Amino acid sequence: NKDLLDEMYETALHVAKEAGKVIREAFYKEKKVDTKMSAADLVTETDQAIEKMVETMIMKKYPSHKFIGEESSKDGERHTLTDDPTWIIDPIDGTTNFVNSIPEVCFSLGIKVNKETVIGVVYAPIKEELFTARLGQGSYMNGNKLQASKITDLKKAVILFEGGASRDAKILEDKMANTHSLYTNARGMRSYGSGALSICNVAAGRGQGFFEYGLHIWDFTAGGLIATEAGAVVMDPSGAELDPMHRRVLCACTQEVADSLSKLLVHIDMGWD
Ligand code: IPD
Repeated sequence: NKDLLDEMYETALHVAKEAGKVIREAFYKEKKVDTKMSAADLVTETDQAIEKMVETMIMKKYPSHKFIGEESSKDGERHTLTDDPTWIIDPIDGTTNFVNSIPEVCFSLGIKVNKETVIGVVYAPIKEELFTARLGQGSYMNGNKLQASKITDLKKAVILFEGGASRDAKILEDKMANTHSLYTNARGMRSYGSGALSICNVAAGRGQGFFEYGLHIWDFTAGGLIATEAGAVVMDPSGAELDPMHRRVLCACTQEVADSLSKLLVHIDMGWD
């Protein structure tokens, strides 16, 4: 129902701005940091406070809706995606950046209805960049319409990637092989420390592709819609249709760059959310 979706979109913008205020406020202060799965997987009290605040706001307004959040998900816990409206959030994507006062940090909120992403909002409050998308209605940064790059040749492409938090030797070996192949075959590589913002950057024409093995549903749901609404391709790295619970994603400005990337990469299985 259109009115409900309009209202949910307004709510999404509102909670993103509230989350942004909290990030901005804490950004230049000392942070209380804890580790999760590995010494490379961080959480701060700000991640937890934002997630609690946002979950409370959403559940108060929409008690029948479902909520999936990074900090309330236990390691290895499997989520079930239902047809119910589901709010999927990452309170701070780029927590390691946040801890190091690197401005590439954002709040990410995607909403799925009938298992399809209908709303995506990614807000980078330090850079003051608000990315928004609604299914079938294009995507925007600070109100300006986004269009992904039209490049089709991988040799002319800049590829964004994230190493992720796993420190498993075999996984790291495969990831090194992937970066090696891409340094050999693409124009350049960048790693900014936020999966969500990397996908938005591809949507904004700041690079031609992004891939990661080992990220989570809350890292790519909102960005995925922002990218497809900007004309980019979002798929499983193998070339199959994206499985939102499978912890891997490939995004590219055109199908040609997506296919070239898919052929080059070792497809690492990092499990399901
Ligand atoms: C992480 C960031 C990082 C990516 C990890 C994510 P977090 O999210 O997006 O770039 O490599 O896979 O988990 O922990 O900062 O919200």
